[in-house]
Amino acid sequence: MNIVNNLNIDNKGFIDMEVDKSVDMLEEIKQMRKDKNAVILAHFYQDSEVQDIADFVGDSLGLSQQAAETDADIILFAGVHFMAETAKILAPDKKVLIPDLQAGCSLAESCPPEAFAAFKKKYPGHTVISYVNTTAEIKAMTDIICTSTNALEIIKSLPEDEKIIFAPDRNLGSYIKSETGRDMVIWDGACHVHEEFSLERILELKKEHPDAQIIAHPECEKPILLVSDHIGSTTSLLNYTVTDSGTEYIVATESGILHQMRLKSPEKHFIAAPPKDSTCACNDCAFMKLISVKKIYNTLKYELPEITLEQELMDKARGSIVRMLEISKKLKM
Ligand code: 13P
Ligand code: SF4
Repeated sequence: MNIVNNLNIDNKGFIDMEVDKSVDMLEEIKQMRKDKNAVILAHFYQDSEVQDIADFVGDSLGLSQQAAETDADIILFAGVHFMAETAKILAPDKKVLIPDLQAGCSLAESCPPEAFAAFKKKYPGHTVISYVNTTAEIKAMTDIICTSTNALEIIKSLPEDEKIIFAPDRNLGSYIKSETGRDMVIWDGACHVHEEFSLERILELKKEHPDAQIIAHPECEKPILLVSDHIGSTTSLLNYTVTDSGTEYIVATESGILHQMRLKSPEKHFIAAPPKDSTCACNDCAFMKLISVKKIYNTLKYELPEITLEQELMDKARGSIVRMLEISKKLKM
């Protein structure tokens, strides 16, 4: 238990105490960032006001590259737990903070370490490729980590006859398998946000907007990918909307990415793909959206909650992430 300024703040949750109205949180965050030599890294799925205060906004690959290279003393991760954990593994001597330790990931949760160890045992002689959306324990059982930006290229870089275990996302795994024809066994995990999109409602939207292109993240289910004009990671989707000559897009991934799309192409029209349940905002990742400007302010101020991991686990997990970074560098990704 960490006791800060007599406040009973523990390291298990988040710091959400009220901030006096006279405090200009944005200014204070700027100042603290300077004074403490801290860097704020934010994922594309964060709320727009969080993205706007970050030093770097990017996808999972870009964020891990930034974490590995930064000379800041503190990394404040505006994202979910596995991302901050990856940053800590890559920069173990730095203080890595996450404004809410409850910011988990249903996909990472869908692959528990004990069950995965048993799965791995069933397939001896297989190379394990895991998506970065996994816990440190899974990374420690993995040969090469990948993200949605480099997954296809990493798998193509392996010898053609290599037998592969892919975890944990069944949709990304099936997509890669069908694109490469590789010998892959796939863990049966999924992201609750990307499995919520409704094909029927997307096609209805397409009827209303016949010129709109459908663009989708490969964590979406196959029927959505089959009707998509472009499939790729968040960075790939963003770049597509910048370089493509079209003017309207139905975007099948978490809705936070629309902020960068609108900033980069203010003249274009972006529509968030609708979920199956029209009464929910299920295309928002509830975990990503736990992070707020107020929590970032409190986290920077009290330097809590902090990501801590056992040295041995970090040392076991690091190799698979470093291998991904090395391959990505070679491939200029
Ligand atoms: P990318 O950041 O690789 O596009 O993946 C999205 C994601 O699901 C992160 O949680
Ligand atoms: Fe995890 Fe899905 Fe949220 Fe990404 S969008 S953090 S995969 S739950």
